Amino acid sequence: MTNLWGGRFSGDMDEIVKYYNASIFFDQKMYNEDIDGSIAHVTMLAEQGIVTKDEADRIIAGLEAIRAGIESGEITFNVEDEDIHMGIESRLIAMIGDTGKKLHTARSRNDQCQVDGRLFLKKEIRNILELLYGLENIVLAKAEQYADSYTIGFTHMQHAQPVTLGFIFMAYFQMFRRDIERLQDTLERMDYCPLGACALAGTTMPINRHRTAELLGFRAPAENAMDAVSDRDYSLEFLSDASISMMHLSRWAEEFAWWNTSEFAYIAIDDSYCTGSSIMPQKKNPDMAELVRGKCGRVYGDLMQLLTVMKGTPLAYNKDFQEDKESLFDAIETWKASLQIFAGMLEKTEFRLDMIEKQLNKGFLNATDIAEHFAKQGIPFREAHSIVGHMVRLCEENHCDFADLTDEQLQSVDPRITKELLGDISIPACVNARNSFGGTAPDEVRRQISVGRTWLDSVR
Ligand code: ARG
Repeated sequence: MTNLWGGRFSGDMDEIVKYYNASIFFDQKMYNEDIDGSIAHVTMLAEQGIVTKDEADRIIAGLEAIRAGIESGEITFNVEDEDIHMGIESRLIAMIGDTGKKLHTARSRNDQCQVDGRLFLKKEIRNILELLYGLENIVLAKAEQYADSYTIGFTHMQHAQPVTLGFIFMAYFQMFRRDIERLQDTLERMDYCPLGACALAGTTMPINRHRTAELLGFRAPAENAMDAVSDRDYSLEFLSDASISMMHLSRWAEEFAWWNTSEFAYIAIDDSYCTGSSIMPQKKNPDMAELVRGKCGRVYGDLMQLLTVMKGTPLAYNKDFQEDKESLFDAIETWKASLQIFAGMLEKTEFRLDMIEKQLNKGFLNATDIAEHFAKQGIPFREAHSIVGHMVRLCEENHCDFADLTDEQLQSVDPRITKELLGDISIPACVNARNSFGGTAPDEVRRQISVGRTWLDSVR
């Protein structure tokens, strides 16, 4: 086959050059977008009188036949095609003859590959948003279910303060909410059509870029042709969004892995989300949580790859840019799969409140509440903090809990303190009283859930 660009060449490409040069093996994923872009382009060319209506109709019919051929498996691509753009165009010319040669008027593969990339990514972003909405829905349902279930809040992986499980779920809800909003922002910012930017500088042909932008569902044509063909910010933004969201999933996956240990046993991950060991018959491993954690690193790698590709590229198009696709596709697939896996695992995980409860009276979880309680009774907080610190020491020495301290012992710490002054320091009383805005009290968490639900309904 002679190359579509072969006019000025007298010799063939070396065989290994063909393979090194080709992107067809990965960019054929975008065949639908390439065909949609071509149909919009030729529709506009006909409206502008650059090709006739009849020519446009024949080109469109040919492109649809190629689409059907690809879908049925009748048309397959190989290294000679180089990339999806030439793969389709050369099939078109072979199918409908010389008219097919008019399709590439007033465009270049430089803008074409960007039309494909943006259309493809917009579609995938919508798919990912759906997965995130689904995950948020599960998180909200779990938060409702466990709004009154007390558990341990950690800092430094040490017992810190009692909270509710619903409260923890709503913390993750906020992270995924920001993931959604970031993705929506990315979608907004990338919604400009590069088609008609041509190689780098626009064209002398009387095209209408606003029309192709409209036909392809973009907000407007990209403002500057040189930027349009050399911009990969949208992919980088997406990869950053993916990295941050994978980091959120990875953090929760890490919690799942340790909540699931026999030492903690706060949760039992469903059998359907675990695997066994080939040697140790008793094993049930939280592989899905670990894989989500592991795949986060892979998505970071995708982001670093493209950032590094872009950093030394002068304006305008450089072939380096062809390296923008595989990492992007990898991040899309990895993120989608991880969201699905994580949502399924979360939905089916059993939270073992009995096991959690056993830990609630360890680690003086209510120490801060007692200090606040004293402060409310007029003892300056710094003093209250120190008093409770001494109480902790006393309890540790006597192997007991705050509630076991006698009046005598309390007064040895500070004469102002009595058992009566301690009041109700049970875990429920402490948690229920922490009702400041954003706090962990069940009523406050229910407010957060309701705000979250309203927001989710408004965006999905
Ligand atoms: N396959 C190429 C890519 O993905 C298409 C653009 C080629 N343009 C060029 N001037 N060689 O970047």
